[in-house]
Amino acid sequence: MTASVTAFGPGRVNLIGEHTDYNGGLALPFAIAEGVTVVATAIDGDDVRAIASDFDGGRDAFPLADPPRDDDTTGWRAFVRGMVAELGADGRALTPALLEISGTLARGSGLSSSAALEVALALALLGVAGVDVADDDRLALARVCSRVENDWVGAQTGLLDQTASLLGRSGRALRIDFRDMDVTEIPLDLGAWTLVTADSGQAHSLDAAEGYNERRAECEDAARRLGVATVSEATPDQAASLPDPLSRRVRHVLEENARVDATVAALRAGDLADVGRLLDASHASLRDLYDASTDAVERTVSALRDAGAAGARMVGGGFGGHVLALLPPDVTPPPGARAVTPGPGAHLLR
Ligand code: GLA
Repeated sequence: MTASVTAFGPGRVNLIGEHTDYNGGLALPFAIAEGVTVVATAIDGDDVRAIASDFDGGRDAFPLADPPRDDDTTGWRAFVRGMVAELGADGRALTPALLEISGTLARGSGLSSSAALEVALALALLGVAGVDVADDDRLALARVCSRVENDWVGAQTGLLDQTASLLGRSGRALRIDFRDMDVTEIPLDLGAWTLVTADSGQAHSLDAAEGYNERRAECEDAARRLGVATVSEATPDQAASLPDPLSRRVRHVLEENARVDATVAALRAGDLADVGRLLDASHASLRDLYDASTDAVERTVSALRDAGAAGARMVGGGFGGHVLALLPPDVTPPPGARAVTPGPGAHLLR
């Protein structure tokens, strides 16, 4: 046991490879500087106590050994109770603690405030119990965090966000192959080019979660019909044989997987104009084949292109949230756009 630890879980930007994670495909995310900080202090008794000053009525207290699932297990409390429960179910030693939660990421922003919260909670809870998370344990921990999201928060998301938050590295993006969870670090050398994010002004809502879960169900339906484990294993001809909208969903996944490796090749060749074209193609596919864009997102993409971006696209689940753009050296970020650079993965600050 340690008297007190401070854990930081970063949000993430996904350079490319959207809605591929739960389809056994490829993605290329990186951890960012914004995220969630959790201070955990050991306390006497048998409870976990939590204070989340940024949230409405931000206090909670429950038995460490038996986090409740009741009418109050919603919003941020579902993350805290779920994290304690799932770490315990994973056989990890925990200790009574006070958790103080604060963050620099807007919720529902598409920059993965949820994974940042899960990951910061996990490192804080384990840290205060005296447990260091080894590098080779981080993927297993990402799965535990994802169970919180799936089973306690109710979003049927994949492993993209938690993996990026836990395994991120300064200056690098991660090529993740979700078929076997193979992770390769790819240097993100942008020279004088910049990546920026801009808020569409439309926060993810319940509708977004419904849209997301519906897309996931459609892809599972498509895989069942084709007799493949995930739609990433389908051929383009098989995709075309499906009824609409399933054919478009599968085509998006297959082409998006190919764009991830095309982006890795373009980065290795230093061809950033090509990376911009791939971002544009990804966005068009998410809009036209995956139906995951909205008017607010389209306006934000257009504004960034008008400002001179070489490419721009929605990031994360879509249906609102942030837009990512790649700006050539001579382009000044338009008002409201903020530069993002790949930062370190989740870590203890002290
Ligand atoms: C959200 C989910 C991820 C992933 C993206 C879309 O961020 O949490 O698992 O599916 O959407 O790529």
